[in-house]
Amino acid sequence: MFNFLDKMRFVCRLASEVLEYVEFYVKPGVSTGELDSLCHNYIVNNQNAIPASLGYHGFPKSVCISVNEVVCHGIPSNKKRLKNGDIVNIDVAIIKDGCYGDTSKMFFVGSPSILSKRLCKVSQNSLYLAIYMVRPGLHIKELGKSIQKFVELENFSVVREYCGHGIGKNFHEDPHVLHYESDDFDCILNEGMIFTIEPMVNVGTCFVRVMKDGWTVKTKDHGFSAQYEHTVLVTKYGCEIMTLRSDEKISKIINHF
Ligand code: MF3
Ligand code: CO
Ligand code: CO
Repeated sequence: MFNFLDKMRFVCRLASEVLEYVEFYVKPGVSTGELDSLCHNYIVNNQNAIPASLGYHGFPKSVCISVNEVVCHGIPSNKKRLKNGDIVNIDVAIIKDGCYGDTSKMFFVGSPSILSKRLCKVSQNSLYLAIYMVRPGLHIKELGKSIQKFVELENFSVVREYCGHGIGKNFHEDPHVLHYESDDFDCILNEGMIFTIEPMVNVGTCFVRVMKDGWTVKTKDHGFSAQYEHTVLVTKYGCEIMTLRSDEKISKIINHF
């Protein structure tokens, strides 16, 4: 009935719709545990889908929520309340019909500083710039090279420890999508490949530490960090942004004739 690509388009749309849904609730005073519950219930009851992160390698919650100096894999908690000026990444990954979709964006709580807003903008634009490069024949390492160059021209840094990944019938597959310059894991893009791009950008140095909970990743220097993630499909002449949201001002299908 539905082929693999149709299923991928569907699950990716569901993942992006969770981010659209939760936006209204991201306000000063709400706890990240409450935001997790809202996302969980929406995914399970409204979308009849499965939160991919819940139980993944033992992760205890349904979405990752990473605030300020938390780089990624923040564990939602009822004790962690958002306050004016926070910048918050919510990372939603979903399983539907055996297929995975994965996306994240930054939310502003009240009015963050000019620097925090610039950090988020640079992180998002570094993702967009890489997305615009995606087409068959491209060496995947060119994505990381361009992301790093762009981010460092803005005097920010790119986290090295975590990368984008192939996605489909598994959460994390080949290829590795590095966000910095390297010849490691290079490959040539082909039509039909599906992967995420998800650069983590820091105000200060690129170094990170994993907390004692085994999950929460923070910047070593406690500077703020921002991340945006999309799942993209390589098409004949460019790519399709499978997790595009309605708040984004770019087109879902990018063709370079
Ligand atoms: N969604 C993350 C990614 O972009 C992975 C989270 S795994 C978890 O790849 F276990 F921390 F949820
Ligand atoms: Co991902
Ligand atoms: Co993700």
